[in-house]
Amino acid sequence: MNPRIDYLARGGGPLTGSLRVPGDKSISHRAVMLGAIADGVTEVTGFLEGEDALATVAAFRAMGVDIQGPEDGRVTIRGVGRDGLQAPQGPLYLGNSGTSMRLLAGLLAGQRFDSELTGDASLSRRPMRRVTRPLAEMGARIDTTPEGTAPLYIHGGQRLRAIDYDLPVASAQVKSAILLAGLYAEGRTCVREPAVTRDHTERMLRAFGFEVTREDHGICLVGGGRLSATALQVPADISSAAFFLVAATIAPGSELVLKDVGINPTRTGVIHILREMGADIHIENERTFGDEPVADLRVRHAPLHGIHIPEDLVPLAIDEFPVLFVAAALAEGETVLTGAEELRVKESDRIQVMADGLQALGARAEPTADGIRIHGGSLHGGTVDSHGDHRIAMAFTVASLRTDGPVRIRDCANVATSFPGFPELASQAGLDVEVVTA
Ligand code: S3P
Repeated sequence: MNPRIDYLARGGGPLTGSLRVPGDKSISHRAVMLGAIADGVTEVTGFLEGEDALATVAAFRAMGVDIQGPEDGRVTIRGVGRDGLQAPQGPLYLGNSGTSMRLLAGLLAGQRFDSELTGDASLSRRPMRRVTRPLAEMGARIDTTPEGTAPLYIHGGQRLRAIDYDLPVASAQVKSAILLAGLYAEGRTCVREPAVTRDHTERMLRAFGFEVTREDHGICLVGGGRLSATALQVPADISSAAFFLVAATIAPGSELVLKDVGINPTRTGVIHILREMGADIHIENERTFGDEPVADLRVRHAPLHGIHIPEDLVPLAIDEFPVLFVAAALAEGETVLTGAEELRVKESDRIQVMADGLQALGARAEPTADGIRIHGGSLHGGTVDSHGDHRIAMAFTVASLRTDGPVRIRDCANVATSFPGFPELASQAGLDVEVVTA
């Protein structure tokens, strides 16, 4: 349990220079999971040393995998092979990490041993039937609470069979859980998504020498094969970079370069949305880290205007909406988001919590069932509650760049789940943020 800490954000000057935000969270989780069940030693660099990714590391250590690091972003995973995981001694505690829990549910459904997945209060409220239901169709036996939430109790020793599954929600976590279970299932597992979601699992399976195809049937793989260890370089997380994209855009005089940012097209919705609102973002020095495209992002201050956010961009920017709402609150005119009901079941109800916080700072923000309507204008100082949601905390820190007084943000310890060192890096870039123990 983290002690409660608040941020006192007093805005700050223009953001200048260059910086590298920590490693991609989604890719870091997958590196550990696939490295653990591969044959051979996987070397990872640029790994996210945040609590969520470390929860995944701890879970695999508890299942007998030798993992060295992270040290300076380096992690060495001695793979135990597809059937080499061992029964953990107790429940696997996954903290705040939905990705750990949902992907592990898929991966553990086909093991010989029983396992139990637990999490913190926020994770224990999040919907898990979206993974347990398709996994049950594959023959898995997973108990949830009557509400369909964690703890998850996974009964080992089940024979899994492949399925053809139409995802009811556009969720990369659910897609990935099914594909990981599919590794242990008999036959060809295919997942069709209602909208494109992040494809890191598919790319990384290929990097481990495992064939994943894209067909009319969706994204398919055949169970029973093995993975071969590989070297992985994790890009900087575009979801963490997003706070600085908005910060530099809204702070007059800013010009900031964000280095080595992952620009996988299934993740770049934030760039498209901000550009449509008038942002000045240049993609420079494009290259790849293995199977993942990366670039440096140069962002300069620019005035923003409101837009109706295209619904097809929603899954491609799903984690970036808290800070996009801040941008919208400072833009000229109205911004409307629809088709984003998923935001209500993230680490917090991000529609309600952002609407409450923006209103506390004087913005006109009206939550709707599946989105929000924000009338741009000015913001004043005040106190907002992050509800322990890392991305809400960082979004309101960014907002302080344009408030007429300080913003106190309550309950910020969970920033360490995805962005360790955020206050320090933000201060280095030009923001004024103080960490206070509440
Ligand atoms: C993630 C997928 C997204 C995202 C989460 C990480 C992943 O969740 O919000 O932070 O790594 O697969 P959903 O797929 O449930 O939308």
